[in-house]
Amino acid sequence: MQNFIEFKNNKVYFSSEGEGSAVLLLHGFLESSFMWKELSRELLETHRVICIDLLGHGKTGCIGYVHAMEEMAEAVNEVLKSLRIRRVTIIGHSMGGYVGLAFAEKYLDKVKGICLMNSTSQADSEERKELRLRACKMAQTNYEALVKMSITNLFAETSRTKFAKEIEAIKKEALKTPVQGYIAATKGMRERKNREKVLRKIDKRLIISGEKDPILLKELVTTEGIRTETPVVFLPLGHMSYIESNKVLTIKVKEFLG
Ligand code: MLT
Repeated sequence: MQNFIEFKNNKVYFSSEGEGSAVLLLHGFLESSFMWKELSRELLETHRVICIDLLGHGKTGCIGYVHAMEEMAEAVNEVLKSLRIRRVTIIGHSMGGYVGLAFAEKYLDKVKGICLMNSTSQADSEERKELRLRACKMAQTNYEALVKMSITNLFAETSRTKFAKEIEAIKKEALKTPVQGYIAATKGMRERKNREKVLRKIDKRLIISGEKDPILLKELVTTEGIRTETPVVFLPLGHMSYIESNKVLTIKVKEFLG
């Protein structure tokens, strides 16, 4: 089923397929439910799979000039309510993980488990906050170059030639994100808070990260795993594990879902 719900005078796109315990897939920044095509095919064999286009991404419009993670989580809740789903396991890629944690903060009893895929419970560092502001400025004048550069930078260096075709396709998809969606999500991520305590409260949890993720450094992810008592699995390459380490990622997610 592919559908829309109304949320704050806008339409939020989602799909829901399959039967069994519900898995919610939340995409990252400049992505959309499109990214889950392959993984969801695998998960559908045993689970009900729900994909949502987050605010300002994919087929979901913008509702403001800052899309706070909490607001994205509200939209997610409305979708689940419309489907009458009471509990889900969340797999969140990067920004999708931030939204998943914001959702868990509000609706802990609806969360069976969370897998932070190339994502973190930490807030932005001051340096990253500064970079985000610069990106918002550049988005207004040189959007295409900014998006293309941002996407390339998510891949480990060794992946950039190996996955050249996939990277081009992702850039094309990313460029469908309107400038407003880019800026609103960037500001929302910039102001997100540390949700380490929320992560600890979720019964079943896992962090999947990339050894060479340029955004989430291995040492920091390792210590986050120790502090939050969350198992961490490192895959060999960068931030885009679903492309760069596709097969092993699928295995790890399936193991996590059980
Ligand atoms: C993402 O892939 O969702 C973003 O790179 C996350 C971020 O910028 O923190």
